[in-house]
Amino acid sequence: MGKIKRLGVLTSGGDAPGMNAAIRAVVRTAIYHDITPVGIRHGYQGLIKSHFQELASKEVSDIIQSGGTFLKTFRSEEFKTVAGRQAAYDNLREAKIDALIVIGGDGTFKGARIFGEEFDFPVVGIPGTIDNDLYGTDYTIGYDTALNTIVDAVDKIRDTASSHNRLFFIEVMGRDAGFLALRGGIACGAEAILIPEIERDIMQLRNYLESGKRRKKASNIIFVAEGDESGGAFRLAEKVREDFSDYDIRVTVLGHIQRGGKPSAFDRVMASQLGVAAVDALLDTQRNIMVGFMNREVVHVPFNRTIKHNKEVNKHLIELIDVLNV
Ligand code: F6P
Repeated sequence: MGKIKRLGVLTSGGDAPGMNAAIRAVVRTAIYHDITPVGIRHGYQGLIKSHFQELASKEVSDIIQSGGTFLKTFRSEEFKTVAGRQAAYDNLREAKIDALIVIGGDGTFKGARIFGEEFDFPVVGIPGTIDNDLYGTDYTIGYDTALNTIVDAVDKIRDTASSHNRLFFIEVMGRDAGFLALRGGIACGAEAILIPEIERDIMQLRNYLESGKRRKKASNIIFVAEGDESGGAFRLAEKVREDFSDYDIRVTVLGHIQRGGKPSAFDRVMASQLGVAAVDALLDTQRNIMVGFMNREVVHVPFNRTIKHNKEVNKHLIELIDVLNV
């Protein structure tokens, strides 16, 4: 691989708070090493459409604190086709871009791996998703902020739940994974947590509610991961309503509020470190890898590994629920 003179950076998939901080770090690290950074707008679709824009240092000023991604993002179907990726490659060559940094989740890395191998093009990934579901990194950018948004929202719901003696089912994001629900539930003192990784039948939930009733609990908050097999908070509430007609049941789906907002200090720092690490990895002739964090150290994980393996939730955390709800 020759010297990198021009480096492309894009965000893809669902946005996550801290993506801007990561872009800023990539841009400034590139400039530090005399490389010209080129922002690619609208994710992989922007590669296909040549939405390229050279970025000066000042163009990433004042963005470390903002949510979303100023480069915009996209879930590109066209990039899944050979013709789409060929167009992307031709455009990159024409713009004399020698390497690419992609910020996103699982789908982003799947696209990056195929593209990198197909065209022998150097690509490095930075994990950015609120879902935290990427193998090979303890945390993904945006997860900590989303968690704090959930805690903030559910604390408010607890106030009103307790005032009315209500039972709330709260549905949180996470796609097929339960990281947000599990940690969010513990942090909010949830009475029960339902996540796809752990089987819990409706009977167990009923037992919880019965025992809570005996203890005259003022409120009950049940966290439900959107990917849980129960089919979501509304369906679960319907099932429970049949047996507990004396409960005043409400459902809140937190929805996209979880994806927005100012990134937490944790996400900003991690995004800054990973942005620098991604450029350093390319300069070190690494390719087709994700830079991540394991035990507070920066690690390099081949795309193949992060895509093929499922990250496990800490199942011991769910056991806390039983203990903390005596
Ligand atoms: O992957 C991030 C995420 O927010 C998931 O938690 C959620 O399932 C999905 O994206 C929602 O996607 P969209 O914004 O396209 O509805």
